[in-house]
Amino acid sequence: MRLSRVVLADKYGMCYGVRRAIDIVCRNAGSGSPVFTLGPLVHNSSVTRWLEDRGVHIARDLDRISGGTVVIPSHGIPPAVIDDLRSRGVNIIDATCPNVTRSQKIVKDMLASGYKVAIVGDPDHTEVKGLVGCGQGEVVVVSSVEEAKAKVVGPKIGIVAQTTVPVELFDAIVAELSSRAQEVAVENTICMATIERQRAARQLAHSVDAALVIGSRASANAQRLKQIVEKENIPAFLVENAEEAAKVNLAGVRSLGITAGASTPSWVIEEVLAKMAELSEERHDNMSSVGQELDTMPDMKAGEDQLDDKDGNSEAAGVSDGGREFHEGDIVTGTIVKVDPDEVLVDIGYKSEGIIRLADLSNRRVNSAADVVSVGDSVDVKIKAFTDDGDVILSKKEADTEKAWERILNALSTGEVVQGKVTDVVKGGVVVDVGVRGFVPASQIGLRPVRDLHTLVGNEIRMKVLEAEKDRNNVVLSERAVLEQEMQEKRAKAFEALREGEIREGIVRRVVNFGAFVDIGDNLEGLLHVSDMTWGRTRDPHAILNEGDRVRVKVLGVDRERERISLGLKQTMPDPWQNIESRYPIGSIVTGKVTKLVDFGAFVELEDGIEGLVHVSQISDKRVAKPEEVLHPGDEVNVKVISLKPADRRIGLSIKEAQPRQEKEDYKKYSGKETEPPGPTLGDVFGELGELLEKERGREEK
Ligand code: F3S
Repeated sequence: MRLSRVVLADKYGMCYGVRRAIDIVCRNAGSGSPVFTLGPLVHNSSVTRWLEDRGVHIARDLDRISGGTVVIPSHGIPPAVIDDLRSRGVNIIDATCPNVTRSQKIVKDMLASGYKVAIVGDPDHTEVKGLVGCGQGEVVVVSSVEEAKAKVVGPKIGIVAQTTVPVELFDAIVAELSSRAQEVAVENTICMATIERQRAARQLAHSVDAALVIGSRASANAQRLKQIVEKENIPAFLVENAEEAAKVNLAGVRSLGITAGASTPSWVIEEVLAKMAELSEERHDNMSSVGQELDTMPDMKAGEDQLDDKDGNSEAAGVSDGGREFHEGDIVTGTIVKVDPDEVLVDIGYKSEGIIRLADLSNRRVNSAADVVSVGDSVDVKIKAFTDDGDVILSKKEADTEKAWERILNALSTGEVVQGKVTDVVKGGVVVDVGVRGFVPASQIGLRPVRDLHTLVGNEIRMKVLEAEKDRNNVVLSERAVLEQEMQEKRAKAFEALREGEIREGIVRRVVNFGAFVDIGDNLEGLLHVSDMTWGRTRDPHAILNEGDRVRVKVLGVDRERERISLGLKQTMPDPWQNIESRYPIGSIVTGKVTKLVDFGAFVELEDGIEGLVHVSQISDKRVAKPEEVLHPGDEVNVKVISLKPADRRIGLSIKEAQPRQEKEDYKKYSGKETEPPGPTLGDVFGELGELLEKERGREEK
């Protein structure tokens, strides 16, 4: 009788951990240096032969390894063996399945916390030996409830599982030990790939007359699948390949179920299916999905792609672990626990460590994961997918991008400043990396135009967001807005702190007809009026200052309401009227220069800032109706100091008094008078003339 149906289990065959281990070995094989696996890489003779064909040797004894590379198998080894290998100077590559690595860490942590650790599993299995070797302290391996009752005693008990034990066994032992210890810490370390395959095998058993389990007799999980089917009272046959499958007595079997262990490669499954197809009346169910896997198997590097291919079959909506829900698309925080060159493992509190592949690590192009993260780093990651094998695929890159958009949109609404690196120069501006790609127009870079934008590449700059459209992936930013705002804030602060009387260093920025504008730092600019430039009579600012001149100025006034600052230059120089009596005592004769003629006399400058008045009556012994009859601006004249009022900054001068005595004698002879010609009294000079002088000065300054 021929088979009428061949049914494949929902989940079957090679798991992520095994594919990953094979991939790691393949990457290192063929480099010239010998590659060893410590015992079989996985428990499957087909895979072992396949690797041997590629020059990968199994080392059953450490003493046989004298160099080259040793790959730690997917089920792990005790740390002491790793130390031994290290002491031999060999290159070690760790292909331990991340789930097993996590179990090892849990055992160490429990022991460190003072727990007696019960490992539910097979004491002869290499994974369990590795777990036992994981720390100083009490570890007991139990494979049944009875053993647990007999061997595990203590107030604090920690319970973990070999990754492939049946969930029911683990639960039963947990229940037993929980009732006997004061404190129990339970970590269900059964691998999700195992759980899924066992569940699917049980389900398969309900719909078939018999089942083939494809896998090695040395494979614990393949053996377990057989037991699960048998427990449902369905005959199950463990076969390693198509040849063995053909020999199975299927008499009376119309409907045959097929599943495969986690170490079984697809090509072996395909061969078995082909053989069964010869015996069946119709094509078996689920054949197409096997075909997909077969395409990837000849080159194990495709294993990672397969993870994505299977997304559609996984429980994508959400996975519960220890009461916590995980969903695809969630952004969660995790800790980096392992960094390989091309992938990173992250503990996010899920059953198994999450995997970030190199391409999902950063928005930047990176050669090695170590360039981006280190063990112990806390990272935000996005859950991309849950695989059939119970692994969780993460992306730091996508989480970074999501967070960056959140930050950018928030900055757009709040005006907050964002920071980014200039990565490129494009037409009209530069590209910046602000977690997403941003554009800064050239007009928004710096406070003054930048001649060569290429000089900015690599610089970190701070910017405000001008536009942000997530759906169009468009972000426009401005560095200038930040600089202007900061300049304003700095100026306001400096203005507030500015005090009258302060002396500041400044730079002349502009010279105008009525004075000069001087930059006194902190973005403050003040007006230096021409009248405060010099103690002298100069009325042209250009004659005193040029743009760019550095000057010391005194703050004369601060108008906080109108934000005006008035400055003085002459106030920083000695006042020439100080000690004037000693330099120009009354009666002294000095030389000066006529600077200006007015109706009532002439102004004569004695030195810069010291100017006196020669009243018209003091110009000559002869009668002078108007000063210009005898004097001209620029004339050098001898004058006698006839009055001095330093407090009023007034000095009265006389030209005729300074004339040589002979001239005076001539005058007396000529006029027939003994007295000197009549002139103004001192009161005339400092009363009437003082007022006139003030009026005259006032007119000029206007
Ligand atoms: Fe790892 Fe689970 Fe496979 S522990 S090796 S993924 S069966």
